[in-house]
Amino acid sequence: MKIFFVTTNLNKFEEARDILEKYGVKLKIYREKPVEVQCEKIEEIARLCAIKAYKKLKEPLIVEDAGLFIEHLKGFPGPYSSFTYKKIGCEGILNLLSHVTNRSAYFLSVVVYVDEETLMTFKGKVKGYISQDKRGEKWGFDPIFIPEGSSKTFGEMTAQEKNTYSHRSRAMEKLGRWLRKKEKQVFV
Ligand code: IMP
Repeated sequence: MKIFFVTTNLNKFEEARDILEKYGVKLKIYREKPVEVQCEKIEEIARLCAIKAYKKLKEPLIVEDAGLFIEHLKGFPGPYSSFTYKKIGCEGILNLLSHVTNRSAYFLSVVVYVDEETLMTFKGKVKGYISQDKRGEKWGFDPIFIPEGSSKTFGEMTAQEKNTYSHRSRAMEKLGRWLRKKEKQVFV
Protein backbone atom coordinates (compact mmCIF):
# COMPACT_ATOMS: atom_id res chain seq x y z
CA MET A 1 0.00 0.00 0.00
CA LYS A 2 1.41 3.41 -0.99
CA ILE A 3 0.67 6.54 1.04
CA PHE A 4 2.05 10.05 0.74
CA PHE A 5 3.33 11.96 3.76
CA VAL A 6 2.89 15.66 3.00
CA THR A 7 5.80 17.36 4.74
CA THR A 8 9.07 19.15 4.16
CA ASN A 9 10.53 17.68 7.35
CA LEU A 10 12.78 14.76 6.40
CA ASN A 11 13.31 13.80 10.05
CA LYS A 12 9.60 13.31 10.59
CA PHE A 13 9.33 11.41 7.33
CA GLU A 14 12.12 8.96 8.22
CA GLU A 15 10.70 8.34 11.71
CA ALA A 16 7.25 7.62 10.25
CA ARG A 17 8.59 5.46 7.38
CA ASP A 18 10.46 3.16 9.81
CA ILE A 19 7.28 2.52 11.79
CA LEU A 20 4.88 2.13 8.87
CA GLU A 21 7.05 -0.24 6.86
CA LYS A 22 6.39 -2.86 9.58
CA TYR A 23 2.75 -2.67 8.50
CA GLY A 24 3.50 -3.08 4.80
CA VAL A 25 3.01 0.62 4.05
CA LYS A 26 5.30 2.21 1.45
CA LEU A 27 5.52 5.79 2.66
CA LYS A 28 6.41 8.35 0.00
CA ILE A 29 7.28 11.93 0.77
CA TYR A 30 5.32 14.69 -0.96
CA ARG A 31 7.56 17.63 -0.30
CA GLU A 32 5.21 20.44 0.36
CA LYS A 33 4.64 22.44 3.49
CA PRO A 34 1.02 21.80 4.48
CA VAL A 35 -0.79 25.14 4.40
CA GLU A 36 -1.12 25.75 8.14
CA VAL A 37 -4.00 27.60 9.67
CA GLN A 38 -3.55 29.57 12.88
CA CYS A 39 -5.44 27.61 15.47
CA GLU A 40 -5.04 26.67 19.13
CA LYS A 41 -5.72 22.96 18.60
CA ILE A 42 -3.17 20.94 16.72
CA GLU A 43 -5.90 18.38 15.95
CA GLU A 44 -7.77 21.03 13.96
CA ILE A 45 -4.60 22.29 12.25
CA ALA A 46 -3.73 18.75 11.09
CA ARG A 47 -7.28 18.02 9.93
CA LEU A 48 -7.59 21.21 7.85
CA CYS A 49 -4.11 20.74 6.37
CA ALA A 50 -4.94 17.17 5.39
CA ILE A 51 -8.19 18.17 3.67
CA LYS A 52 -6.41 20.92 1.72
CA ALA A 53 -3.61 18.58 0.71
CA TYR A 54 -6.05 15.87 -0.45
CA LYS A 55 -7.92 18.34 -2.66
CA LYS A 56 -4.65 18.97 -4.47
CA LEU A 57 -3.02 15.53 -4.51
CA LYS A 58 -6.09 13.25 -4.71
CA GLU A 59 -4.08 10.28 -3.42
CA PRO A 60 -4.17 8.59 0.02
CA LEU A 61 -2.04 10.74 2.29
CA ILE A 62 -1.12 11.67 5.82
CA VAL A 63 -0.34 14.99 7.42
CA GLU A 64 1.13 15.33 10.89
CA ASP A 65 1.13 18.22 13.30
CA ALA A 66 3.07 18.02 16.55
CA GLY A 67 3.89 20.23 19.49
CA LEU A 68 5.75 20.44 22.77
CA PHE A 69 3.57 21.35 25.76
CA ILE A 70 5.39 22.60 28.89
CA GLU A 71 3.46 22.50 32.17
CA HIS A 72 5.13 25.47 33.86
CA LEU A 73 4.41 27.59 30.76
CA LYS A 74 0.72 26.55 30.76
CA GLY A 75 1.16 24.42 27.65
CA PHE A 76 3.32 26.85 25.67
CA PRO A 77 4.65 26.51 22.96
CA GLY A 78 2.04 23.84 22.04
CA PRO A 79 0.52 24.77 18.66
CA TYR A 80 3.19 27.48 18.28
CA SER A 81 6.10 25.05 18.60
CA SER A 82 7.41 25.47 15.09
CA PHE A 83 7.37 29.29 15.28
CA THR A 84 8.88 29.23 18.78
CA TYR A 85 11.65 26.88 17.71
CA LYS A 86 12.53 29.18 14.80
CA LYS A 87 12.50 32.29 17.00
CA ILE A 88 14.13 31.17 20.27
CA GLY A 89 15.24 27.56 19.75
CA CYS A 90 16.14 25.12 22.52
CA GLU A 91 18.22 27.79 24.29
CA GLY A 92 15.19 30.08 24.54
CA ILE A 93 13.13 27.35 26.22
CA LEU A 94 15.97 26.57 28.63
CA ASN A 95 16.17 30.28 29.50
CA LEU A 96 12.42 30.43 30.15
CA LEU A 97 12.83 27.50 32.56
CA SER A 98 16.02 28.58 34.32
CA HIS A 99 15.48 28.19 38.11
CA VAL A 100 12.17 26.38 37.44
CA THR A 101 11.88 23.03 39.23
CA ASN A 102 8.68 21.82 37.52
CA ARG A 103 10.11 20.77 34.17
CA SER A 104 7.25 18.43 33.16
CA ALA A 105 6.31 18.51 29.52
CA TYR A 106 4.84 16.33 26.83
CA PHE A 107 5.00 15.99 23.08
CA LEU A 108 1.78 15.42 21.18
CA SER A 109 1.54 14.17 17.60
CA VAL A 110 -1.65 14.22 15.58
CA VAL A 111 -1.65 12.26 12.33
CA VAL A 112 -4.53 12.63 9.90
CA TYR A 113 -5.06 10.07 7.15
CA VAL A 114 -7.28 10.92 4.18
CA ASP A 115 -8.39 8.99 1.13
CA GLU A 116 -11.42 9.31 -1.11
CA GLU A 117 -13.81 7.89 1.47
CA THR A 118 -12.18 8.28 4.89
CA LEU A 119 -10.65 10.82 7.21
CA MET A 120 -9.12 9.36 10.36
CA THR A 121 -7.16 10.96 13.19
CA PHE A 122 -4.52 9.21 15.32
CA LYS A 123 -2.84 10.72 18.35
CA GLY A 124 0.34 9.87 20.20
CA LYS A 125 1.62 11.45 23.38
CA VAL A 126 4.84 11.06 25.34
CA LYS A 127 5.27 12.52 28.80
CA GLY A 128 8.65 13.59 30.07
CA TYR A 129 10.56 16.63 31.16
CA ILE A 130 12.83 19.37 29.91
CA SER A 131 16.53 18.76 30.59
CA GLN A 132 18.76 21.28 32.37
CA ASP A 133 20.88 21.74 29.26
CA LYS A 134 21.09 20.76 25.62
CA ARG A 135 22.27 17.19 25.15
CA GLY A 136 22.82 15.50 21.79
CA GLU A 137 21.85 16.68 18.37
CA LYS A 138 19.05 15.66 15.99
CA TRP A 139 16.31 18.16 15.28
CA GLY A 140 13.85 20.57 16.88
CA PHE A 141 13.46 20.18 20.62
CA ASP A 142 15.04 16.68 20.66
CA PRO A 143 18.14 17.82 22.60
CA ILE A 144 16.10 19.16 25.56
CA PHE A 145 13.35 16.53 25.95
CA ILE A 146 13.77 13.47 28.20
CA PRO A 147 10.91 10.95 27.94
CA GLU A 148 9.65 9.23 31.09
CA GLY A 149 11.55 5.98 31.61
CA SER A 150 14.82 7.23 30.15
CA SER A 151 17.69 9.41 31.31
CA LYS A 152 18.64 10.38 27.76
CA THR A 153 17.24 13.23 25.72
CA PHE A 154 15.71 12.35 22.34
CA GLY A 155 18.81 14.06 20.92
CA GLU A 156 21.06 11.43 22.51
CA MET A 157 19.05 8.47 21.21
CA THR A 158 19.39 6.50 18.02
CA ALA A 159 16.44 6.74 15.64
CA GLN A 160 15.30 3.28 16.79
CA GLU A 161 15.48 4.23 20.46
CA LYS A 162 13.52 7.43 19.90
CA ASN A 163 10.86 5.40 18.11
CA THR A 164 10.34 3.21 21.20
CA TYR A 165 9.18 6.30 23.13
CA SER A 166 8.08 9.04 20.79
CA HIS A 167 4.72 10.69 20.33
CA ARG A 168 5.08 10.29 16.56
CA SER A 169 5.81 6.57 16.72
CA ARG A 170 2.78 6.07 18.99
CA ALA A 171 0.48 7.85 16.55
CA MET A 172 2.03 6.04 13.54
CA GLU A 173 1.67 2.62 15.24
CA LYS A 174 -2.05 3.33 15.69
CA LEU A 175 -2.30 4.34 12.03
CA GLY A 176 -0.40 1.21 10.96
CA ARG A 177 -2.69 -1.11 12.93
CA TRP A 178 -5.76 0.61 11.52
CA LEU A 179 -4.48 0.42 7.93
CA ARG A 180 -3.75 -3.27 8.32
CA LYS A 181 -7.34 -3.90 9.45
CA LYS A 182 -8.73 -1.69 6.67
CA GLU A 183 -6.77 -3.65 4.03
CA LYS A 184 -8.13 -6.94 5.34
CA GLN A 185 -11.69 -5.64 5.15
CA VAL A 186 -11.20 -4.66 1.52
CA PHE A 187 -9.86 -8.06 0.47
CA VAL A 188 -12.10 -10.49 2.42
P1 IMP B 1 5.15 20.82 13.20
O1 IMP B 1 4.33 22.08 13.25
O2 IMP B 1 4.38 19.57 13.34
O3 IMP B 1 6.12 20.78 12.06
O4 IMP B 1 6.10 20.76 14.50
C1 IMP B 1 6.17 21.73 15.45
C2 IMP B 1 7.54 21.86 16.04
O5 IMP B 1 7.60 21.04 17.21
C3 IMP B 1 8.71 21.42 15.18
O6 IMP B 1 9.21 22.45 14.38
C4 IMP B 1 9.74 21.03 16.22
O7 IMP B 1 10.46 22.14 16.63
C5 IMP B 1 8.88 20.52 17.36
N1 IMP B 1 8.76 19.05 17.31
C6 IMP B 1 7.68 18.30 17.01
N2 IMP B 1 7.98 17.00 17.09
C7 IMP B 1 9.27 16.93 17.45
C8 IMP B 1 10.18 15.85 17.67
O8 IMP B 1 9.87 14.66 17.54
N3 IMP B 1 11.42 16.21 18.02
C9 IMP B 1 11.83 17.49 18.17
N4 IMP B 1 11.04 18.52 17.97
C10 IMP B 1 9.77 18.24 17.60
